[in-house]
Amino acid sequence: MSEAVRVLVGRADLARRVRELGRAITEDYAGRQPVLLSVLKGGVWFLADLVRAIDLPLEVHFLAISRYGDAEESQGRVQILLDVDVDIAGRDVLLVEDIVDTGLTCRYLLSVLAARDPASLEVCTLLDKAARRIVPLVPRYVGFQCPDRFVIGYGLDDRERYRNLPDLLQVEDLASLRAAAEPLEAPPARA
Ligand code: PRP
Repeated sequence: MSEAVRVLVGRADLARRVRELGRAITEDYAGRQPVLLSVLKGGVWFLADLVRAIDLPLEVHFLAISRYGDAEESQGRVQILLDVDVDIAGRDVLLVEDIVDTGLTCRYLLSVLAARDPASLEVCTLLDKAARRIVPLVPRYVGFQCPDRFVIGYGLDDRERYRNLPDLLQVEDLASLRAAAEPLEAPPARA
């Protein structure tokens, strides 16, 4: 796998930046009790570290969505499979994402959530792949700007693998990454 990927953001830099974001959110939301919403699955790793860097009483809730095709085909229309089980009217809501790419998913979710009359509604994303944006969307909090490359690790996957890697890795050669991930072929059976 080593030649197929390179480290984009290592675990120490991730930890440092997450602490900075946590401090900024703690200051900005002082005196309030924000509701952090995370979209399964990729954002969960970031969220888990982020909430431990925020020194405020807060709530965490999850959304699960399914897309009709990929984000561009679906124009961001998603089916909500698991909805937030709390009334967010009058609450300070922070949508936490691992990555904002085209922006279509976030835009759709923000429109659904805004219709529920939160007191405030902002986005915090670990990675901002602004070069890929289709719809205008400027997250309030951004961990790192992301090059227009395929990234895995720290929650981000390729076909559900690699979410558990502690670093963010940039994929240089997807074919060899996938080839390396194939299980070894069983030796031919002996006659
Ligand atoms: C990622 C990410 C966002 C979405 C952003 O989810 O978590 O929800 O893509 O893309 P967009 O800006 O182009 O709409 P993904 O589809 O990889 O699912 P996962 O979180 O389950 O890995």
